[in-house]
Amino acid sequence: MRVFVELSGEHPTLPRAEALAAMASERVEVRRATFGPNLLRLEVTGPVERAARRLGLAHVVCEELASGDLESIRAFASAQQLGGRTFRVRAHGLGVDLDPRGVERPLGADFGKTGRVDLDAPQIDYRVLLDEEFVLGRVLHRVDRSRLEATKVANRPFSLPISLHPKFARALVNLARVPMAGTVLDPFCGTGGVLLEAMQLGLRGVGLDRERGMVLGTRTSLRSGGRAPDLAVADAGRPPLRAESIHGIATDPPYGRAASTRGEAIDQLYARAFAAFADLLPRAGHLAIVLPSERWIERGSEFLELVETYALRVHRSLVRHFCVFIRE
Ligand SMILES: C[S@@+](CC[C@H](N)C(=O)[O-])C[C@H]1O[C@@H](n2cnc3c(N)ncnc32)[C@H](O)[C@@H]1O
Repeated sequence: MRVFVELSGEHPTLPRAEALAAMASERVEVRRATFGPNLLRLEVTGPVERAARRLGLAHVVCEELASGDLESIRAFASAQQLGGRTFRVRAHGLGVDLDPRGVERPLGADFGKTGRVDLDAPQIDYRVLLDEEFVLGRVLHRVDRSRLEATKVANRPFSLPISLHPKFARALVNLARVPMAGTVLDPFCGTGGVLLEAMQLGLRGVGLDRERGMVLGTRTSLRSGGRAPDLAVADAGRPPLRAESIHGIATDPPYGRAASTRGEAIDQLYARAFAAFADLLPRAGHLAIVLPSERWIERGSEFLELVETYALRVHRSLVRHFCVFIRE
């Protein structure tokens, strides 16, 4: 099957990395991948819709039906037999200021030979993108970006300005490549933003924080989301968990300024934590972690194999490095 993912464009490479990690988590085999900053096109086998439902840094995932110039797309549309089924066509330019009506109208007429237009609840939702060429697809999944906005920490029952935006928390969970119904650990869980996304993906969440107030607050916040994660007051450097009882780790540790480390030097805390993660992860398990500088990436590489890094500039003095490590 050929699919394309319309990436959200918040970062030049992180959205693509999230999509590929989500495919790997769901055991979707990617045979071929081509990409630009806004579009990822894949040839895949496996449960791609399940992988699509995981995404945070994307807009729409489609099964690819045709590509080329507008005439080839129209030829494909004219040849379809919709048998009276309802459809809609929406077109969008990627990096080009496309007039959508110039594409939607003729294609609507082509599909309309055998189908009926329904703009609100169509049986087939066609999407046309203009990137280097036209690409026509059938929508498999639309990412609910408004839900991701609505569950920002400021709108949650327990709120402190230390939490990643839900879309980045979701990307972090995806980068940890935890399979469906697997267990993901956040050993610095804070207000529970990462765990909230893990649970939304259908994963079992385990959260630790050294501050009792954080654990209680996270419990309150996440109780409303249905099944609660397992939470405990504990030191991330000495997690009270059986080795290999988790499938992956997704976490955003303190950066040494705003968040509390109870006076412990950040260097020492990270060294203890990385050593504990290396003991806890199963073989080939992933750690997805946000680090405040390249120095800490090198530190982590002393304990685990570095696979990927993505630098996200937040403001002048803060760059978040989304990093993925693997236990060999
Ligand atoms: C940047 S915040 C985590 C933010 C979190 N992702 C959220 O959604 O709120 C870091 C957290 O690490 C906790 N922390 C600091 N030192 C710790 C340690 N040694 N073990 C466990 N948690 C610790 C802090 O209490 C804080 O809640």
